[in-house]
Amino acid sequence: MSAKPIKSILFVCLGNICRSPLAEGVFRAVLTEQGKDQGLVIDSAGTGGWHAGQEPDRRSIAVAARHGVDISGQRARKVLQEDFSRFDLMLGMDNANVRDLKALAPQAAHDRIHLYLDFATGKTVDVPDPYYDGAEAFASVYRMIREASDALAKRLGASASPTSGHASSTM
Ligand code: 4NP
Repeated sequence: MSAKPIKSILFVCLGNICRSPLAEGVFRAVLTEQGKDQGLVIDSAGTGGWHAGQEPDRRSIAVAARHGVDISGQRARKVLQEDFSRFDLMLGMDNANVRDLKALAPQAAHDRIHLYLDFATGKTVDVPDPYYDGAEAFASVYRMIREASDALAKRLGASASPTSGHASSTM
């Protein structure tokens, strides 16, 4: 990766209703808690578009709400080609997401695509898809994302800088 400051991050999963909306909402909350909401543009998207326009899965909304984070206003969307020029960093929740992102991305964007937990914490581990599982899977995903969000804020703390971002998800 280049040493350029990171000013925009896209969190990516398959459907953009379970994991990446949590990653977006929790990271935004962590930045606010830490007073680091310095104009990073953050957003989330799915490599698949089946749920485009929908609010997050009610189980993700519920687990976030239990921890004081409201993600109910977010809406799912599919990854767009323009995302590969717009975002400094694209973090896939699992290795299939990373593979699919790289298949869609121009070669020049490949070094901005990483496995989320690897980039944030150095652990080469997936955030597993909880869609077909129960509430405990969503609780486990939340814990992974909370830990990764703290680590990501720490990692970016030194390099993030103010920006006049204009997306709806601008901090
Ligand atoms: P996500 O979970 O990728 O974390 O949003 C999924 C949501 C929907 C589906 C798969 C995974 N689906 O097959 O519809």
